[in-house]
Amino acid sequence: MRAHPSPWLTALVVGAASLATARSALGEEVEPVPRWRSGDPIPSLAKAYQGQLLIGAAVTHEMVLRSDTRRFLEHQFDVIVAENEMKPSALSRGEGRYDFAAADALVDWANRNGIKVRGHCLVWHREVPAWMFASDGKPLSRDVLVRRMRGYIHDVVSHFRGRVWAWDVVNEAFVVSEPGVQSENGWRRSTWYEVIGPSYVALAFQFAHEADPEAFLFYNDYETQDPAKRSLILELVRSLKESGVAIGGIGHQSHYTLDHPAVGSLEASIQEIARLGVMNHITEMDISLRERWNAPVPPLTDELRAAQARRWAEFFRMFRRNADKIGAVLTWGVNGESSWLRPPDEPLLFSAFRPTRAFWAVLDEATGTSE
Ligand code: XIL
Repeated sequence: MRAHPSPWLTALVVGAASLATARSALGEEVEPVPRWRSGDPIPSLAKAYQGQLLIGAAVTHEMVLRSDTRRFLEHQFDVIVAENEMKPSALSRGEGRYDFAAADALVDWANRNGIKVRGHCLVWHREVPAWMFASDGKPLSRDVLVRRMRGYIHDVVSHFRGRVWAWDVVNEAFVVSEPGVQSENGWRRSTWYEVIGPSYVALAFQFAHEADPEAFLFYNDYETQDPAKRSLILELVRSLKESGVAIGGIGHQSHYTLDHPAVGSLEASIQEIARLGVMNHITEMDISLRERWNAPVPPLTDELRAAQARRWAEFFRMFRRNADKIGAVLTWGVNGESSWLRPPDEPLLFSAFRPTRAFWAVLDEATGTSE
């Protein structure tokens, strides 16, 4: 992550120091509240939604290394996920070898501060270490791949046993109508699928459950509001439950644009999933300034910011209505300028750790004051 502009940090450090002196003279606890404008602490989203939804974000190891940004996260969030540091390609150093340093720092900090951790992710077609699919020119056998997958999941999930609240066990196994992406009956034709077959999903859940029976296990995907994908997901949940596999919920990545998708279509998926007796998490939310994915990012005007803020508020209104079925909402990143969608897009609730217009809309929505 790149360095943050310093005026805010300077204000924070100065503000926190004077607060500390003032309050310690009275013998009170000092609450490290970052300041967004002189005199005004940034309200906490986690506090605003307390008792309704857990609020979180994808963070980086760097954010946790700095005391000012760390305090910001502690103030704003109930739950975090590592944007990259807990992916297989980041943790693995060869079969049976790992570098857990960055992930441990993140997880330990969260655990010490009562912040829950979502682990992302165990099995995905991307960010797979080379040894996993290596085969010496021969076809990779099902037995070998199952053994490697079991080894990886057992090692990683037991390493974090009791410290990670929820795992995205399998990410993006389904594909519906995506040009250029091969699928078979809705299954993405990944190496996992081609070598093991559709049972790779149940096996991954089984291995994760063996390694940490208390962890909350999720299937995570994008476009979960699409009726075809919704059917595939519902069918998966039914079949896993029927065979006694411990699936705890469905993660909705929720990478959205100004026009796509309709809030009601996501609500329908959430409700149908809940009817099968599993939870929903909103795992990677952002709202691009684009109208649709294939449209360019328009210039950032006040109207555009207002439209984006309204859209965030509409989604949160629906999340509150379904709070008992959702549980947790996480954004994919903290600051818009460092988002994976890259500038000029501004898809998140903060910019340089200061609230965007969308932040205030989401905050107001917590009490229904924008209704
Ligand atoms: C993205 C990260 O944000 C990027 O920094 C990285 O280069 C690629 O992966 N769906 C997922 C996430 O499940 O893991 C992806 O994260 C975004 C899409």
